[in-house]
Amino acid sequence: MTSAPFLASTREELHRALEDRRGEGHPVGLVPTMGALHDGHRALFRAARTRLDSGAVVASIFVNPLQFAAGEDLARYPRTLDADLEMCAHEGVDVVFAPGVDEMYPGGEPEVTVDPGPLGSVLEGEVRPGHFRGVLTVVAKLFALARPDLAFFGEKDYQQLVLVRRMSRDLCLGVDVLGVPTVREADGLALSSRNRYLDPEDRQRATVLSRALHAAQKRAVHGLPAARWEAMRVLDEVPEAELTLDYLAIRTPELAEVGERHPATATEARVLVAGRVGGTRLIDNVPITLGPVA
Ligand code: PAF
Repeated sequence: MTSAPFLASTREELHRALEDRRGEGHPVGLVPTMGALHDGHRALFRAARTRLDSGAVVASIFVNPLQFAAGEDLARYPRTLDADLEMCAHEGVDVVFAPGVDEMYPGGEPEVTVDPGPLGSVLEGEVRPGHFRGVLTVVAKLFALARPDLAFFGEKDYQQLVLVRRMSRDLCLGVDVLGVPTVREADGLALSSRNRYLDPEDRQRATVLSRALHAAQKRAVHGLPAARWEAMRVLDEVPEAELTLDYLAIRTPELAEVGERHPATATEARVLVAGRVGGTRLIDNVPITLGPVA
């Protein structure tokens, strides 16, 4: 499919682009992005297109300043609108909403924001204070503007997915939030818009993250301590000067703490890792099954 999507840069244009389709009873699916689209986003568009059938697929492209702390990569975050629009056309996206900062935040930085609750200040939230407040605030605004029935988020940003799902549920937003599995390079590296910052040596080192997760997956039948130990053993292959580990964590699928005791029955969990390779911060995660006792 290659027909160009309708490009809306104002809230009014977005509203007009969707009202007819909604009036005809077609569902709306939203894929929120910050642009610099790669095959991970392509998988989101494909999931949306398949699920929506004749409904409207809307992609938003907005680099949200509210979710970047001072000193993070807001200014240098890649902006590739022409290539992004090409991908959207190719994947059957109907409407692209690409507002400027003034359109999204007409009164400047908002005074009322979405509080992510306790999960917003652990893992990613501990390393990036305020990040999830910024994410949930912009996603809530996008939900209010596009009024989607469904929204699609990558599992690569797993904590974000869990929090958006919780926000939709806790605030009764009525949006069904769907996760789409992470897309990886052939050597396991999870696709990310930030991978383009890696020089060839760091690009090679960065594979240690997915290798560690894979090692944890394989040992998980022996329980949490064994899985964590195995992942740490792999991470230790890269010297500290080249990989600064922020966390390696094993949590429930909802990101609650998991007991250390060996489970009597097979227990689904998630292993998450984050760190800095060279100057680039990367995150990754996979599902694991802990136990059962052999
Ligand atoms: O995952 C992202 O690209 C962003 O955090 C999102 C969900 C588009 C909000 O700005």
